[in-house]
Amino acid sequence: MIQGETMVGVEDLRLELGGRQIYHIDRLAIRRAEVLALVGPNGAGKSSLLLTLALLQKPTSGTVEIDGEAARNGNALGLRRKMAVVFQQALLLDMTVRQNLLAALRIRGIPRREALERVAYWLDRFGISSLAQRPARVLSGGEAQRASLARAFALEPRVLLLDEPFAALDYPTRKALLNDLGGLLSEMSMTALFVTHDYTEIPYLAERVAVLHQGRIVKDGSLREVFGEDMLKRSLWAPWET
Ligand SMILES: Nc1ncnc2c1ncn2[C@@H]1O[C@H](COP(=O)(O)OP(=O)(O)OP(=O)(O)O)[C@@H](O)[C@H]1O
Ligand SMILES: [Mg+2]
Repeated sequence: MIQGETMVGVEDLRLELGGRQIYHIDRLAIRRAEVLALVGPNGAGKSSLLLTLALLQKPTSGTVEIDGEAARNGNALGLRRKMAVVFQQALLLDMTVRQNLLAALRIRGIPRREALERVAYWLDRFGISSLAQRPARVLSGGEAQRASLARAFALEPRVLLLDEPFAALDYPTRKALLNDLGGLLSEMSMTALFVTHDYTEIPYLAERVAVLHQGRIVKDGSLREVFGEDMLKRSLWAPWET
């Protein structure tokens, strides 16, 4: 493994649950400042693999390397703090949007003064400053997901792990968020894994894609290599879209 370049790396990583193999990854590496899309059908093992990379699901065998360090029991907490995860459900606490972000930063030990600055900045960057005092439970799906992304960015992670964050959103909401997030990821040279089963979302965020099928990586390459010229030439969105 080329340590300097690789931010997240695994080799010969397996997970078995209840006697069933959930995934077996021969090799996968996310380079620094790279956004890797992981695409595959329902049940392929995408979420299970993401949880393992987030050090939230122990693999049956193999190790995960984050930022050049192999994860062990002793260092998992420290390595987890280099990462932020966004799930399909926003998982906000029953408090205001602003309090949600502040709570996350408090848990990571960020001093209050700096936390306040970061929260104001990221709410603004995600266009939701006006929602700061609103209770999270009354947000629309798209607003909640913006809050969840703002919370993840406010943590200033080295690695962002996204598990189908837009799957529950309607098309215009999804497209706006994909555009905003794509701009931020490249502006910040963020290292990220973007899990989706909807390949039309991929070009907004990623330049490389790995295809997971029945727990195995069956393709891994540039969008062009994996999807071919034809698909890239076609409009990825509905033809009635202007
Ligand atoms: N705790 C568990 N015990 C047993 N099987 C599990 C467990 N968690 C996941 N699985 C199985 O592992 C397989 C992969 O699940 P996973 O959620 O990782 O797929 P996915 O690619 O994220 O699917 P989706 O697109 O539906 O989110 C599925 O067949 C699922 O039933
Ligand atoms: Mg999943």
